[in-house]
Amino acid sequence: MSNSIQAIRGMNDQLPGELACWQQLEQTAAEVFRLFGYREIRLPVVEKTELFARSIGQSTDIVEKEMYTFQDRNGDQLSLRPEGTAGVVRAMLQHGLLHNAIQRVWYAGAMFRHERPQKGRYRQFHQIGVEAYGMSEADLDVEIISMTSQLWKQLGLSGVALEINTLGTAESRKTYRSALVEYYQANRESLDEDSLRRLDKNPLRILDSKNDAVIELNKKAPDILEYLDNDSKEHFQRVQVLLDKLAISFTRNPKLVRGLDYYGRTVFEWTTDKLGAQSAICGGGRYDALVEKLGGKPVPAAGFAIGMERLIELLKIEQLCQPEKRQDIYIVQTSDTALELGLSMAMEFRDAGFSVTGNIGDTSFKSQLKKANKSNARLALIIGDNELQTNSITVKLLDDGTQLTVSRDNLLAETSKYLANME
Ligand code: HAM
Repeated sequence: MSNSIQAIRGMNDQLPGELACWQQLEQTAAEVFRLFGYREIRLPVVEKTELFARSIGQSTDIVEKEMYTFQDRNGDQLSLRPEGTAGVVRAMLQHGLLHNAIQRVWYAGAMFRHERPQKGRYRQFHQIGVEAYGMSEADLDVEIISMTSQLWKQLGLSGVALEINTLGTAESRKTYRSALVEYYQANRESLDEDSLRRLDKNPLRILDSKNDAVIELNKKAPDILEYLDNDSKEHFQRVQVLLDKLAISFTRNPKLVRGLDYYGRTVFEWTTDKLGAQSAICGGGRYDALVEKLGGKPVPAAGFAIGMERLIELLKIEQLCQPEKRQDIYIVQTSDTALELGLSMAMEFRDAGFSVTGNIGDTSFKSQLKKANKSNARLALIIGDNELQTNSITVKLLDDGTQLTVSRDNLLAETSKYLANME
């Protein structure tokens, strides 16, 4: 072991036994997204660094210190994607998909951030998310929030909490920013090092500081609601009215500012108290200014991304992961002639939709049966000399050891019956 190469810290292998819950989540999410009219998009994992710097923001933690950035052999400055939104906007613009068009897309895949690894926080992690373009109304904000809520419902998940806030427009944020800076300047002695650093570059982020003294100070900090322009106020009001209409409960968290600079107006997060410090399972919001910032005509947009590792951990804690589907059949075949029959039988069963492995190598009956038991299949189909002579097959129910002899002609029908009863 000591000499063998290990995976990179914070980047996890996903082993066969652990993937059933991932597939359950991926399939359920894909179906919910389809029901809302969203179509899948798949994009490169590597993009030009400039794309992320321009969209997520130079002074964000992600761009400042968390990206995996390198120069490729041509000298181009590239980064592993730390999130999906920037790439989707880049692709929409590159392929001209936003000309007078509404787009609704979803994506899933690995993202990379060089954060300090801990439970629920990894350097390679996975997101599944959606982005929608061409709709400026609050109805869209509520549509995407209701997609997440529908997904929780389909997964059987309850007890997750929705927090919402508004960040207004760039102009209203500017006035708010000045008010915040003034407030923090007047209370500099309560700010920790991190907050002092943010005071110049990104004062809004001080609002979600985890430092006790700063949390106390934030209780009396100015609220953005008082600095909002009328349109943003109405927009936020409408979001809340529609959420109420859909009976989606939420709380307004005036400190919710999100860690990416492209947001304006509605932002939201779904959190849980079951996962310790890494409590956000999903985050998103509106980003009406980003398309223009990346070189397009102005196009309103909104989206969210779910942290898959965190959601899966929560599904496990809540015992909502369905067990991995068991294999149906293991074929024990003790001679070359039996093997030939076994091969064609296996195909016949697979054609009928059953999962089958045939024994490979090793002709001893005893060790093959051991392998059959270890395979966790439901049934073993045994083809020995006796069976070949009588044109029959021995069916062994591996859970309780019951054995029965079935004629070759009735095999598929009889076995199907047994397997159906075992579901
Ligand atoms: P985000 O809040 O940075 O937003 O990430 C979304 C979710 O990804 C988080 O709520 C969390 O569950 C998960 N996540 C983030 N970092 C890690 C990590 N290091 N390890 C494990 N999970 C993590 C975005 O990325 C935006 N692009 C979301 C969005 C889409 N907004 C509009 N459209």
